[in-house]
Amino acid sequence: MSTFPMMTVQQHILEEQRRLRPGASGDFSWLLSGITLATKMIAAQVRRAGLVDIAGAADEGKNVQGEIVQKLDVIANQALLQCLGNRGNVAVMASEENAEPVVVSRDWENGTYVVIFDPLDGSSNIDVNVSVGTIFSILRRSPEPDKYRTPLEDVLQPGLKQVAAGYVVYGSSTMFVYTAGNGVNGFTLDPAIGAYLISHPNITMPAHGSIYSVNEANADSFPEPYRKYLAHLKSGKAGRQYSSRYIGSLVADFHRTLLKGGVFLYPPTSSHPKGKLRLMYEANPIAFLAEQAQGVATDGTRRILEKPPESLHERTTLLVGSRTELDLLKQFLK
Ligand code: AHG
Ligand code: MN
Ligand code: MN
Repeated sequence: MSTFPMMTVQQHILEEQRRLRPGASGDFSWLLSGITLATKMIAAQVRRAGLVDIAGAADEGKNVQGEIVQKLDVIANQALLQCLGNRGNVAVMASEENAEPVVVSRDWENGTYVVIFDPLDGSSNIDVNVSVGTIFSILRRSPEPDKYRTPLEDVLQPGLKQVAAGYVVYGSSTMFVYTAGNGVNGFTLDPAIGAYLISHPNITMPAHGSIYSVNEANADSFPEPYRKYLAHLKSGKAGRQYSSRYIGSLVADFHRTLLKGGVFLYPPTSSHPKGKLRLMYEANPIAFLAEQAQGVATDGTRRILEKPPESLHERTTLLVGSRTELDLLKQFLK
């Protein structure tokens, strides 16, 4: 028997919609159920990742049935495209795995939403059995029908326009964490019944933490204020002894930061002068969740959510975490 209250994510979304938007069509819950379905399919594949390798070893790239063994990020992308594509209310999808936006419907009646995703985040961690994730961001298509507007223009909206965002972390358990602009809630997949059950209601990020999370191998090429900030944290002068943790899957590193507080940074480096992470399907959804949980997300100059996007795959610096650590970082970046 599950020890969680039996509130599924579907029930939760329906109730939240009913409470906050009486008269809502149910469209949005239907859309989100496409995402939860896809992530259960992805979770099933992630859980079998090591076995697929065994099967695939017999014949390079093919499993025992002779089927082509596909990379998990391709499988994850297909699961999302398929599960969302037939929901009937998605206009455009955009993914890390597709160079251009994928148009589902140009018909105004049947295309209310724009969904952007990173189907498999932290994919290099798959080979070593470490947590990976899926990240999504949901926007509304601009309400004025305009036959001249391109699908890319539908997609390129600032993060503040997101109506919902979330992620799934395929960790020691599978968790779905989302916000629809009314706080952040977390659900754990009960594999016995295949349902996400509420396990972390109303998540708030602690106002400070004692972990910093950064790829320190790049530190020599961080701009000086970042190096000074990290030295300050290490010195104990910030009033506490910090530990460092870095998984290399944004979802997993952020999930820890959300629950335990502290700071996650991906500053500019010599190989990625604008930062490495992607604005539309990594930084924006993570920033929306962080702010909804009382945390902070900036690029060092402005709120991530206020950044006007210029292209689908653009990169940004991402500094996200607890208020205290981010306030201090701001002092250094002045
Ligand atoms: P993806 O697997 O979707 O390409 O994302 C990888 C990203 C992100 O998950 C992580 O925070 C970052 O790359 C790690 O980068 P470094 O290896 O440069 O630290
Ligand atoms: Mn990613
Ligand atoms: Mn990815």
